[in-house]
Parts: sequence; structure tokens; C-alpha cells
Amino acid sequence: IKYFPEPFRIKAVEPLRMLTAEEREAKIAAAHYNVFYLSGEDCYIDLLTDSGTGAMSQEQWAGVMRGDEAYAGASSYYKLLEAGKDIFNYGYIQPVHQGRAAEKVLFPILLGKGKFAISNMFFDTTRAHVELTGARCIDCVVAVAKDPSHRAPFKGNMDVEKLKKTIAELGAENIGLIVMTITNNSAGGQPVSMQNIREVAEVAKANGIPFNIDAARYAENAYFVQRDEPGYQNKSIKDIIREMFSYADMFTMSAKKDAIVNMGGLLGVKDANSPLILKIKANCISYEGFFTYGGLSGRDLEALAIGLYEGIDNDYLRYRIGQVEYLAARLDDAGIGYQTPVGGHGVFVDARAMFPHIPYNEYPGQVLAVELYKEAGIRTCDIGSYMLGNHPDTGEQLKADFEFTRLAIPRRVYTQAHIDIMAEALIEIKKRAHTIKRGYRITWEPPILRHFQAHLEPI
Ligand code: F0G
Repeated sequence: IKYFPEPFRIKAVEPLRMLTAEEREAKIAAAHYNVFYLSGEDCYIDLLTDSGTGAMSQEQWAGVMRGDEAYAGASSYYKLLEAGKDIFNYGYIQPVHQGRAAEKVLFPILLGKGKFAISNMFFDTTRAHVELTGARCIDCVVAVAKDPSHRAPFKGNMDVEKLKKTIAELGAENIGLIVMTITNNSAGGQPVSMQNIREVAEVAKANGIPFNIDAARYAENAYFVQRDEPGYQNKSIKDIIREMFSYADMFTMSAKKDAIVNMGGLLGVKDANSPLILKIKANCISYEGFFTYGGLSGRDLEALAIGLYEGIDNDYLRYRIGQVEYLAARLDDAGIGYQTPVGGHGVFVDARAMFPHIPYNEYPGQVLAVELYKEAGIRTCDIGSYMLGNHPDTGEQLKADFEFTRLAIPRRVYTQAHIDIMAEALIEIKKRAHTIKRGYRITWEPPILRHFQAHLEPI
């Protein structure tokens, strides 16, 4: 397939350096085979995350200079408020410093010990914030999502029958929250259809359960709806976003993804008169800062207000999704498995298919992440059993539905030549995959979100 050309050109450059193979070998060993301990400058291509790693535009940088640093009521706050209300059509918009801050502010209000939260799939920090309140998480993603080779649209969807059954079994009064993650990051950046959002909203409403959108990649989701869902081809991205959000009661958002800022988050409440808002403001003041800045500098608020619009631009989104599709097509040609069809923010390579002989508790996704670093200085991460961790009650290693290695593509950062290097590194590793016999064991781990900090060693 053809590479969709960038709707921008490069004005500032950031030099990269490539270490030798021996140096990379030493660096990853010194990092305890945990990519989070590598220095950024030791990574030639950094695909650890698409979060906060995007390139801001000249308008955003100009906005940084204009940022109003007033403690209360900064003009940059009002600009952000207007943008948020315009795009989402919500009554209340709360800036916070990133996505998990929105979770920390909101979840304790709705969840606690004995409660459950149900999602199509929780992202790891979102899961952690549910568990920190004492509540427990249940994932209800559609079954097709669990078969990476099965091509189907909207593999991020919630299994609505399973959702209804789970609510009936646990009792609606014990479900504190339903969370729809768009796109579904953990399932491979897979989109959720408008129809699915609508159906889940109906279930939530019928059972009196608050419905939250985890909106980190909402613009990419809207693009998929516009492209692939019948009836949406002639609707604008903004109209699609407004419809998606009209079905929910609130949203938490990491603005470090689709709003293309290096730091920022939002919390939105649809009903401007909701009693939630006072509690949100109170938590925000305690944890984040006064509610008109929410842990951000005025310059960050300004850049975010601008980035929200750049992230929903049609030409940008076509380029963005096109770049990921180009990489996926190169992997198709080489017979390398990944979560298909490719999602929005990266390629989730099926490490179980690449290393079928390595069991889940030797972390095949981590094996491939280490190999990509050794091969070409590419930093990626495991989205599999290594990331999932242990059961919060029994401490037993959980078996993930997938063993992915995620190549998350930063926004507006890498060129076609970089994308080709990613494909070629994977092709080289596939050739020698059978010679890598064993995976890794964990020699030390913290109790929660262990993948960020654990130490590993080759078995
Ligand atoms: N929800 C989703 C779906 C996410 O992907 C993330 C972050 C968060 C919430 C938390 O947001 O990082 O701003 O606090 N995902 C990043 C990633 C870290 O690499 O996928 P945050």
C-alpha cells in the first residue's frame, strides 16, 4: 500500500544516534531487561508509547508563549474550556495533569471496596486506579478481539450480552462504573463502533450505572467510525465525536495522545448541574491544584486547547492512521502476525505467534521487546502477561488474553524511512525466532504496576 504523505513539513529537528549492537546488548542487560530503565537517548526509535511523545505544531509552540500563568481564571483555562465544550458538547470540563489524574480524581467518588467496574478493557493505570479504591475490574471485550489473526471491524467493542450477564450476576447496585475505552488500547488500539457505545449506554441507563468514556484516543476512534461504520461516511469527525460523547455521562482523558500535547488530561461531565462536579473540584484542589489549572501550567492549557483541534483534523487523521496501516501492510507481506486489522496508534505484534514455544509466564511480548532493542535500537513494550501482573488477591501470575509487543507510533514524529526500519527489524527477528529458546524470569517486582519497575533475567 502507498504511504499517505505527511500534511506538514519539518521545521525543527531532534538528532538521533545509533549505538552499536554490543553497546545495545550491554545497555539492555544493565537495564535488567526492562525497557523502562533504558535512557531515551540510547533508543534510536522510541516506540515505548504514543503518550506525550507527539510533536507539537508551530501554533502550539506559539501558544506556549501566550500561555496565561494566572493561578485562578487564566485566559488559557477559558480557551481550553471553550474548546472542550465545543468538541464534546459537555457542561463541565476539568483540566488535570494527565489521564491517570482524572482517574484518581473521579474513581474514588464512584467506587470503593465491594464495588466493581466493568470495561471493554481497562488500560493498566486505569485498572490500578479502580483497584486503589478497593474495587475490582472486569473486562468484557468481544470474543473476536482475542484472536489476533481474525480480521473484523470494531474489535474493541464491549460484549453487550456478557456485560448484561455480569451486571445480573453481581447486582447493578454493586457496579460503580462502566468504562468504555476508545480506542481499546489493550486490545490493540481497536476501535469501538457507535452502535456499541449506544448499546452499552442503554444498558448502563437501564441499570442506573454511571457510564464513563476513557477517551485517550477518541479522535482516532471517530476516524474509524467515519471510515468503516455504515451511515457515518458523510458526517464530520466533530459530529461523530459529539454523538459518541452524548451517550456517556462523563469522560476521563489522557490528552497526551489525541490532543498532541506532552502533558495534560481532561475530565468531562455532560450535565453542568451534576452533583459530581463539586466533588470533582474538591478532589482536584487536593490532588492536582485549583480547578482552573488542574496541575498544568497556563502554557500547557493553551497548547492543549490548540492541540484538541489539530487532533480531530481529517487530513491529519488520514495521515496518522495511514502511517500505521503502511507498517502493518509491510508485516503482512512478511507473514508477521499482529492484532488485525491494525488499530489506531500502533502495531501490536503477536509475540505468541512469533515465539510459539515460549509460555506466557516467560513473557513472549517482553522477549520480542528486548530483541527489537538489540536488533535496531527500537524501544517497544510488552502488552501481555508481563504487563498484566499478578492477581491482586492471590498474587498468582495472571495469563493475559494476548502476548503482544506494542510498537506505539508517536504522532507527527517519525518518517517513512523510520517505519521501514521498524518493519525490517521485525523481519530479521522472525528469521531467527526459533533460535531464541527461553524467555525471562522476574527477579524483583513491586506490588502494583510492576512492569514499569521489575527486574528480569534471561532463563
Ligand atoms: N487510559 C488509556 C486508554 C491509556 O492508554 C492511558 C495511558 C491512560 C488511560 C492513562 O493516561 O498516561 O496520561 O496518565 N496510556 C499510555 C500508553 C501510558 O502508553 O498506552 P496517562
